[in-house]
Amino acid sequence: MIIKPKVRGFVCVTAHPEGCAAHVQEWIDCVKAKGIIQSGPKKVLVIGASTGYGLASRITATFGANAATLGVFFERPSEEGRSATPGWYNTIAFTRAARAAGLYAKNINGDAFSLDIKKQTLDLIRADLGQVDLVVYSLASPRRIHPATGIAHRSVLKPVGQSYSNKTVDTDKGIVSTVAIEPATEQEIADTTAVMGGEDWEMWMNALSEENLLAPGAQSVAYSYIGPEVTWAIYKKGTIGLAKNDLERAAQKIDSLLKLKGGGRAFISVNKALVTQASSAIPVVPLYIAILYKVMKAHGTHEGCIEQIFRLFSEQMFNGKSLQRDEAGRARIDDWEMRPEIQNAVRQIWPGVTTESLGNDTDIAGYRTEFLKLFGFGLAGVNYEAETEPHVLML
Ligand code: NAI
Repeated sequence: MIIKPKVRGFVCVTAHPEGCAAHVQEWIDCVKAKGIIQSGPKKVLVIGASTGYGLASRITATFGANAATLGVFFERPSEEGRSATPGWYNTIAFTRAARAAGLYAKNINGDAFSLDIKKQTLDLIRADLGQVDLVVYSLASPRRIHPATGIAHRSVLKPVGQSYSNKTVDTDKGIVSTVAIEPATEQEIADTTAVMGGEDWEMWMNALSEENLLAPGAQSVAYSYIGPEVTWAIYKKGTIGLAKNDLERAAQKIDSLLKLKGGGRAFISVNKALVTQASSAIPVVPLYIAILYKVMKAHGTHEGCIEQIFRLFSEQMFNGKSLQRDEAGRARIDDWEMRPEIQNAVRQIWPGVTTESLGNDTDIAGYRTEFLKLFGFGLAGVNYEAETEPHVLML
């Protein structure tokens, strides 16, 4: 099958196996070039391990610290005439590379919110690893079937309290327009918190603790975003932001649990806005990201997921010192994004961006390149005109 990108709005419905493998290899090479993280994690569970920040965490643990990793994710295999999702191909490429380096890497594909997948994961940890010393919680999901009630909760990306209108960009067509979004209902707020809040993270950590699968001093981290005021109505103060507040509540409870378990810790890391499958679905944010990329590249401070997580692990979590926390106890690797000179430059560009000025005012080209790379397209050395085999078995 010859696989080409088929972009539909903010998703690409195809993915290229060799391209995804080349993308994973870029991240592995990036970590290897940075060197080994002294006193890094040894046995790591990554929940949401197949793309974005979770995949970056797994690659950093493996190739930056020689850790054994178990990855949980929810990806679709290939079907007749249809390629698999990128996380499927990413994971196969990652697993091959980790095992070739002599490191343990196993995978569980299924719904992390379910009791069944939790049980499978716990059983595998008990059998193969004994205990884990790091749990990374990096899920981004549009829905969650609650394991106790069976209710299907859907998350929404809406403002809270009042309607919101701002500029947005159709990144595929390159059209800047104004989007108006009605405020979420109480039910939508509750549903979004049920999906993207902290209850599931707590369930994971409680289950691991009860089964004595957490090593003394184990750490756990979940990822959040704050960003600048221009996106607050849709992010920080919107439904997703309220869900993230609940994730912070959970961080405190899990932190107490881990402190009792041999002096471990749990915390939130606030990460930089980056092109991932999850962020491309948020209104307004992709336009902000396209401007941010332009400004940060000009300042020489642009990072991708892999550079972000390497910095988190090497400078914050595993450097033998205490975390540099903000007033709410969070680690901040969005610090370079939030520097005044960066945000001032973004604020200056924002009001003037139009469809016509998009190419000059923003790094829309860089955004599109990054977006297509998520699906394995545009990687150097990959022959996209050649036949490729989309059916690859999970390892
Ligand atoms: P992503 O879409 O690249 O990755 C999501 C991961 O979750 C994938 O591995 C996917 O397979 C997995 N997943 C989704 N539903 C699942 C389910 N039911 N069961 C098992 N696995 C499931 O997302 P991204 O952007 O890496 O987001 C990860 C975390 O980082 C999220 O909490 C997000 O809010 C946060 N974050 C993202 C930022 C961004 O700009 N992309 C910025 C700061 C924080």
